[in-house]
Amino acid sequence: MPSTATLKLENKELHLPIITGTEGEKAVDIRNLRNETGYVCYDDGFGNTGSCESAVTFIDGEAGILRYRGYPIEQLAEHSSFIETAYLIINGELPTPAQRKRFSQLLTENAPIHSSTEHLYEGFPWDAHPMAILSAMLNSLGCYYPHLATNDHQRDLQNFEETAAIIISKVRTIAAYSYRASRGLPYNYPRRDLPYCENFLHMMFSTPFEPYIALPEVAQALNLFLLLHADHEQNCSTSTVRTVASSGANLFASTAAGVCALWGPLHGGANMAVLEMLKSIHAEGDDGTKFIELAKSGKADKRLMGFGHRVYKHYDPRAKIIKESFYSALGSLGIKNDPLLDIAMRLEAAALKDDYFLARKLYPNVDFYSGLIMRAIGIPENMFTVMFAIGRMPGWIANWKEVASNPKGRIYRPRQIYVGATKRDYVPPHQRR
Ligand code: ACO
Repeated sequence: MPSTATLKLENKELHLPIITGTEGEKAVDIRNLRNETGYVCYDDGFGNTGSCESAVTFIDGEAGILRYRGYPIEQLAEHSSFIETAYLIINGELPTPAQRKRFSQLLTENAPIHSSTEHLYEGFPWDAHPMAILSAMLNSLGCYYPHLATNDHQRDLQNFEETAAIIISKVRTIAAYSYRASRGLPYNYPRRDLPYCENFLHMMFSTPFEPYIALPEVAQALNLFLLLHADHEQNCSTSTVRTVASSGANLFASTAAGVCALWGPLHGGANMAVLEMLKSIHAEGDDGTKFIELAKSGKADKRLMGFGHRVYKHYDPRAKIIKESFYSALGSLGIKNDPLLDIAMRLEAAALKDDYFLARKLYPNVDFYSGLIMRAIGIPENMFTVMFAIGRMPGWIANWKEVASNPKGRIYRPRQIYVGATKRDYVPPHQRR
């Protein structure tokens, strides 16, 4: 394999080093390009840009491979839990029994939120979107722990274990409280005796007169959903977390920014958008046949939501796992004769043999099924993306740590190709037309 790439620009020849990752991924190192030539690279959407070196997650989109810290997602989905996987992603290794116990204790201790935060919920309008509440509350968490949110990476790293546990644990309490607030329901305090997913479902659905006891299948479906979302390399929200972290910002602020980036329908909001699409197809009396034709129009608002992925050009491996577990749990989750599920299956079958989708390598992504699973668990639609954020927290935390621990790290600051007006003189108001 060559060790340099040669670039000829005007009369200059430049030898650019080749970098190779542990899985054989190759990159041309252009860090000196601008200094030496005055040129920058133009890569709209960063599809060809490696923005960092990372040891967290490996994806081969062509082959449909996803590994957290080297472990195939299929093995983790079968043998691990969300919390064990979160530990792996954050710390780099699977926990020993003692480490696992300590992590669980830290999560249990940190599940409650400060009682004064309840007043913050009251400040939001009743119909505020829970993603807006989540990002605001996560950021404000830092105010309750100023010693963990110093914006001095060295100091913040000294307390990293505690901060990570606080965020992993409290994000679930914050999320459940935002749902309760939006319904005008009393808050349910976390319970020490319940595991992570069961505790979340209790905080969401218990009432003062009846505790919610999650069916094992429901807790397991949620556990798998969170595990499958735990990290996904340099996607829009993780890159956002890294960008914010690169300025020196603390973990609370950086993950709050990740929540905002995740909200959009092209990213985490897609699971909600899938459900909305299925409902509107059903409301129009279509069985999916008409919609598939519309989705081929190229119009952004007619896309087949839950299909396509920037990285996967084959089946998203998470979609495969979630689909299989979904089918095997349909009965236990109480789903039968669901017209939306029928439409989804018809859309999937049609798209998988349609030239438009095949030519563009558009296959189902994890969101195509995750919305249906959330619905079956009883999670309201506007909470779908919040669930994704709870799941993605370990990945954001691990990526923040990589940025914060890199002594040679630089602030993220891309260049641009300016295409606006060239220099012109100020026009006084009375001369403007
Ligand atoms: N339905 C119909 N056509 C599509 C779709 C779709 N879902 N996705 C892409 N296309 C078409 C585009 O119109 C374009 O066609 P053209 O070449 O004729 O112009 C071509 O496929 C390539 O599309 P891009 O937008 O360039 O692909 P990109 O890699 O930038 O976008 C994305 C990826 C955003 C995921 C896109 O496929 C999409 O919008 N999908 C639907 C939303 C979705 O499911 N998002 C979830 C992503 S996964 C996640 O965040 C967990």
